[in-house]
Amino acid sequence: MIEVVDLHKAFGSNNVLKGANLKIEKGETLTIIGRSGVGKSVLLKHIVRLLEPDSGYIQIDGENILDFDRKQLMAYRRRFGMLFQGAALFDSMTVDENVGLSLREHTNTPEEEVKEIVSEKLRVVGMKGIENLKPAELSGGMKKRVGLARAISMNPEFILYDEPTTGLDPIMADAINDLIIRLREELNVTSIAVTHDMTSAYKISDRIAMIYEGEIIFAGTPDEVKNTDNPVVQQFIRGEAEGPIKAV
Ligand SMILES: Nc1ncnc2c1ncn2[C@@H]1O[C@H](COP(=O)(O)OP(=O)(O)OP(=O)(O)O)[C@@H](O)[C@H]1O
Ligand SMILES: [Mg+2]
Repeated sequence: MIEVVDLHKAFGSNNVLKGANLKIEKGETLTIIGRSGVGKSVLLKHIVRLLEPDSGYIQIDGENILDFDRKQLMAYRRRFGMLFQGAALFDSMTVDENVGLSLREHTNTPEEEVKEIVSEKLRVVGMKGIENLKPAELSGGMKKRVGLARAISMNPEFILYDEPTTGLDPIMADAINDLIIRLREELNVTSIAVTHDMTSAYKISDRIAMIYEGEIIFAGTPDEVKNTDNPVVQQFIRGEAEGPIKAV
């Protein structure tokens, strides 16, 4: 289990996280929702210690990840696959090189086997046979899928998805949703997704947590989210300009 405890993070005078608390249970898919710029990506980055908090901490199975030395941190990060916002593929590298990057850099897997694993992961995301293409030759949806193939290349226990469906057409978005559900079922992964796509959040999530003004103000099942009388949550999930959240 991952536990985020009283996380504070400021960039200069910009206080982004102001005491965020969140528990992620093994095997669940938890989605973090909230407005643009509220700190969703920042929170996700803290979970793999790509950012360090000003105060507060993150525990995995009772161990504080801030206490990890370099070697422990590397081992910890290897348990994660991360689909970055915008896929973050390397433009100069082929799909094969992108997906096989960690295997080639961090393991001694023979080249022949790496190629097999890359093909298999591409098959899982429905992108078989595109090994030799470059990112510039892919559509947005294809890039997300390749990013996902890379995220699962090392058989992670946890997958972090940052905006997996943003910018995709509704059908491709739904295909990505199905893929996220299938990965949980087939690979038994624990997932943390960040999104403002409520259709996706309802479909993929066991629980949904909302971040607002630096804190997690609500966490519950999709039904609990829909039925809460919290006015901030209601305004957000209905996408209304009027309400306690100021539009600008
Ligand atoms: N490395 C950084 N240095 C300085 N400020 C940062 C850094 N990363 C994020 N921020 C700031 O922190 C705030 C939260 O950013 P974040 O990327 O987490 O937003 P978000 O909720 O993911 O938004 P979106 O939905 O648009 O992706 C923003 O004000 C952003 O400018
Ligand atoms: Mg973001």
